[in-house]
Parts: sequence; structure tokens; C-alpha cells
Amino acid sequence: MRHELGRTLLTAEQIAARVAELGAAITADYRGKTLFLACVLRGSAVFWADLCRHIALPTVTDFCAVHSYGDGTDPSGVILLSQDLTLPTTGREVLVVEDIVDTGRTLSLLRAHLLTRQPASLRICALLDKVERRQVPVPLDYVGFTIPNEFVVGYGLDFAQEYRNLPYIATLKAI
Ligand code: PRP
Repeated sequence: MRHELGRTLLTAEQIAARVAELGAAITADYRGKTLFLACVLRGSAVFWADLCRHIALPTVTDFCAVHSYGDGTDPSGVILLSQDLTLPTTGREVLVVEDIVDTGRTLSLLRAHLLTRQPASLRICALLDKVERRQVPVPLDYVGFTIPNEFVVGYGLDFAQEYRNLPYIATLKAI
């Protein structure tokens, strides 16, 4: 589709303030522990890069990637873990860092997969929660913003791999 940016949903300043709050909350909750950050590529890279610098704890980071196959607009498409974490997570305090939760299918799959590794704990931090779209329940421990059911780009989120470098989050509209 032909498209252009719509309205700004979250400014860079709003995002930065909320990410700092999330980092402070995570720091308080995991005090005295080493935190294992599991960053879900690709969309979460920008969020992770900012969030981790607001976590005043020893941390280890690893990356995984989940891809959905078929029509990207069709939530019935198959979701596959295309790149697993490479570091061991058994007995670790694992925090999954995700940019957006939509249907919940990606995190549901990833969460079930990570639980088989018997972490000491497994929590999820999502910057954006598009709660109206949820099809599969998934427990979110830290949420940056609940957003309406609109397609959004920027701050790591893409449309056809574009817009990830926008420093703010905007809607995308068809033209
Ligand atoms: C996005 C996002 C989540 C997933 C959420 O990833 O990063 O992983 O969709 O959707 P769901 O809740 O409906 O499963 P995407 O497939 O766009 O890949 P990307 O991170 O590489 O942009």
C-alpha cells in the first residue's frame, strides 16, 4: 500500500521519560540480582538499547528473533523462533524485552519456549501494549504505554523494514 506518516502518538520525550521509569522499577524489583535481558529482534533493539542504560544492575543480554510467515496482516500466520538465544538461561532471572504486544502470539510462543529452560524467573517488559488486538493471553509485568488499535512505526517499529530509526512513534496511514 502507499502510505505516509500520520499523527505522532508518542514523542521522543514521552518515550524517554517512560523508559527511565521502567528502568527504575526494574532496578528496584531485581535489586541484588543479575538480570538476563532477552531482546526480541528486530523491533525491540532501540527500546532495549535505551532501557538497559536505565537499569542500574549487573545485566547480561542475549538476542532472539521471532518471525511470522504468511501474510503479515493475518494473525493466523505461522510464528517461528528464527533465532534462539545462545546463552544459557537455566536458573537466570530472565526479562524479555519486547517493543509491542499485538495478538500476543509471539510472546506466548516465546514464553512457553523459555519456560522449558527452567529460568529462576521469567518476566516480560513491553514498551507498547495494543490490548484491543489480544487473541492469546500473555502476562505482561512491565508496560510502557497502552495504545489504540492503529498501525504504528518508529522507535524500532517498522513498516516493511522502514521507519525503525524515527526517534518517536507515529501512526501510519494509507494514501
Ligand atoms: C512485532 C513485535 C512483536 C510482534 C507482536 O514483530 O516486535 O514481536 O510483532 O505481534 P503479536 O503480539 O501479534 O505476536 P514483527 O513480526 O513485526 O518483527 P520485527 O520485530 O522484526 O519488526
